[in-house]
Amino acid sequence: MCGIVGFVSDRDVSHRLIEGLRRLEYRGYDSAGIAALTGGGVERRRAVGKLVNLETKLDEEPLSGTTGIGHTRWATHGRPTEDNAHPHGSRKVAVVHNGIIENFRSLRDRLAGTGVSFESETDTEVVARLLEEALGEGSSPSSAFEHTLAQLEGAFALGVVFADEPGHLYCARQGSPLVLGHGDGEMMIGSDAIALAPFTRRITYLEEGDRAILTTKGASVFDQTGAEVQRTESLSDASAALVGKGNHRHFMAKEIAEQPEILSHAIATYVRPADEIVELPASTIDFASIDRLTISGCGTAYLAGLVARYWFESWAKLPVEIDIASELRYRDVPYGDNAAALFISQSGETADTLAALRDAKAAGAVVGAVVNVTESSMAREADGIFPIKAGPEIGVASTKAFTCQLATLASIAIAAGKARGTLTPTEEKRLVRGLLSIPRLMADVLVHDERIEELSHHLQPARDVLYLGRGVSFPLALEGALKLKEISYIHAEGYAAGELKHGPIALIDEHVPVVVIAPLDKHFDKTVSNMHEVIARGAKCLLLTSEEGAARAGYEEDLLGSFILPEVEPDLAPLLYAVPIQLLAYHTAVLKGTDVDQPRNLAKSVTVE
Ligand code: F6R
Repeated sequence: MCGIVGFVSDRDVSHRLIEGLRRLEYRGYDSAGIAALTGGGVERRRAVGKLVNLETKLDEEPLSGTTGIGHTRWATHGRPTEDNAHPHGSRKVAVVHNGIIENFRSLRDRLAGTGVSFESETDTEVVARLLEEALGEGSSPSSAFEHTLAQLEGAFALGVVFADEPGHLYCARQGSPLVLGHGDGEMMIGSDAIALAPFTRRITYLEEGDRAILTTKGASVFDQTGAEVQRTESLSDASAALVGKGNHRHFMAKEIAEQPEILSHAIATYVRPADEIVELPASTIDFASIDRLTISGCGTAYLAGLVARYWFESWAKLPVEIDIASELRYRDVPYGDNAAALFISQSGETADTLAALRDAKAAGAVVGAVVNVTESSMAREADGIFPIKAGPEIGVASTKAFTCQLATLASIAIAAGKARGTLTPTEEKRLVRGLLSIPRLMADVLVHDERIEELSHHLQPARDVLYLGRGVSFPLALEGALKLKEISYIHAEGYAAGELKHGPIALIDEHVPVVVIAPLDKHFDKTVSNMHEVIARGAKCLLLTSEEGAARAGYEEDLLGSFILPEVEPDLAPLLYAVPIQLLAYHTAVLKGTDVDQPRNLAKSVTVE
């Protein structure tokens, strides 16, 4: 989603704004802009496309000032044009905004009726025009800010500077994340602590409804009733170093390749290797006393939940209901007594997942957040946090966060099985051994990257691709299709292999490659039968299986090719089979020449619904 930064400093801020935006670019990259207070009032520089375009513009038309705001945009209202780029405003005031102003149409109509003209199609511009209206009526900047906030509906974070009040930076948090940073001779705001990491580790998280006025000396924070409040300062552990690509061509390639190492950290958080047992951090869900578990998330995070459903049902004999968060939040879910809910999110800020979490909590369920960003809104609002320890994920397509979500969820499900007495110590040891072996097996798979690259040549010319899997491999088929769609722009669908003949098999012909995910598990023979059904109808299949699986499947001459993986604990196969699925999408996208790390129309952290 959009990213916001702002500085009030004793030195020039334009480079600091760009440096902060560089760390936020993963949130959106349709356009970017900065505004600074100069001797002559507010000046803005904006450019369509990536941040580098704004930097080029600043080389041609430099901007300097000691108070300023910056923004990187993921378009919601209005196309990605320079007019629609933030900051919005005039010589008197400038505004950056993340989120949605839901009542912007009625506000815009009212302002237009008084003769105000608009330069953009955005919802944000009404904020700037409301501020100007209030200033024009003689309000001070602080009362103009309050008066404007009182008229806005929706979920948003704002940063504002006024020409008449140099050395002051105004901000507000209402539904979208915003942090304050305490620097040396300067104060700053950012959409997350990562943006501010090069400048300070001293962070204050604003609470819902907070607004603040910053000067170089500090911040005055007010709650939504207008009362001045103290918010605690903490030390952020976000790294000041800009996360690099190492010797990889893309962040996605690096994030796929580092999974063996990253995953071992995630597993180490929950597993005691010497004893081969799982141990969850204290004060989380009491699985022995609940009789129902709800799981939710969006996109890849939801698909990790879909895998986990099989685990909770099988190991903990716990009834699980799972839905995508954008649906769950609008259902009247009767959580009842003894209910728990897990919300899965890399960012911890996805608007729909956060709303669904709040609903579950309000309905009395015990709520756990399975998140990567442990300072995120979900982490702070849940009853218990399960960190996935994936480290910063910069590629927009989720890879290492997915496998770390799976490892975390597997650990929770094992712990639930233990707590409920449905998993014997021997079974626990088997699963823990299985989990501990995954990083090594992943490393073995990654060695054969070139083979996947070869196979991706079969997908590159396709218009449509199908992915098939059964049991825990079904959600992985959905994830494979999602990954391919989002970065290569090839249409793809995932199906439960047994569902194919109930309709989708009509799509099969020699132009539709079919990726078959078939680890050697209890479903193997049935999945292979389904593969033969599509081969008989002219389909060209790519088979992902083990050596023994390939020998048992036969029909090698009828396949486009196969990719051989090591044997793995069957229940945990999605953790391993995720790697070739990710690489297949990656190499296909590289062959197609798409923007792998920042695919069109997407953003990393979706803080609007
Ligand atoms: C796909 C992808 C998205 C995210 C989804 C949820 O590769 O990255 O589908 O998984 O937007 O984001 P989080 O996990 O931050 O809630």
